[in-house]
Amino acid sequence: PTINYILKDGTIRSVEAQVGSSVMENAIRGNVRGIDAECGGSCSCATCHVYVEEAFFDRLPPPDDMENELLDGVASERLPSSRLSCQLSVTAALDGLTVRVPETQS
Ligand code: FES
Repeated sequence: PTINYILKDGTIRSVEAQVGSSVMENAIRGNVRGIDAECGGSCSCATCHVYVEEAFFDRLPPPDDMENELLDGVASERLPSSRLSCQLSVTAALDGLTVRVPETQS
């Protein structure tokens, strides 16, 4: 499945992702700037914040309590579409998933 990342300058970067990997891991692998992921995916840093494009938001399982709590502490504004990308697992159904990188992660 392809994941699209909208960078801060508006350009789109597409990464070919493996099923079962996280949206954060693919950002790191694809050198997507603006996703820091300081904790390496253990859901404790909130620096992998992304905004999920509306068309895909409802296809994602909702955040668990821990993600939800961390989302309250993200550096950029928390929007209804905010998610932590390390908690988003790539599935075949998510082909074309598009996420926007926030203004800042810290
Ligand atoms: Fe740290 Fe996602 S990488 S919370």
